Amino acid sequence: MALTNEQLLAQACEARTHAYTPYSHFQVGAALLTKDGKVYQGCNIENAAYGPSVCAERTAFFKAVYEGERNFDRIAIVGGKEGSAPNQTCAPCGVCRQVMMEFCDPDRFCIILADGKGGCAEYTLREILPLGFGPQNLA
Ligand code: THU
Repeated sequence: MALTNEQLLAQACEARTHAYTPYSHFQVGAALLTKDGKVYQGCNIENAAYGPSVCAERTAFFKAVYEGERNFDRIAIVGGKEGSAPNQTCAPCGVCRQVMMEFCDPDRFCIILADGKGGCAEYTLREILPLGFGPQNLA
């Protein structure tokens, strides 16, 4: 049976516990679901030089793409300050939205965000990246 958004968010919460955030102390977790039902988790990983830091969403995507995955269904994301509740709203940054645009159909791929009250909201990539530039523009 397909995973529910709540189950995917639970995996994002688990991923968040792996975050390496000695600089911002802001911990993010992501759980990326492929169309054939596999989940790739990611956390943010910071760096003393700041610039090389990577977001949770890109960690999840790059793990999956390395493994040969190209077809993605949804991603669940949670984030908040160290020590805060695990299920807070954290919208993806612009760079991560652009990475989603590379691999996902913007009208079908969904971003699941915790609402901080135990529920969630669902957006298409098109909704959060209107007029996005992607591979189709170069076709
Ligand atoms: N961060 C993510 O991992 N994902 C987001 O969607 C927003 C921001 C990270 C980057 C950095 O490690 C920390 O959160 C503070 O910006």
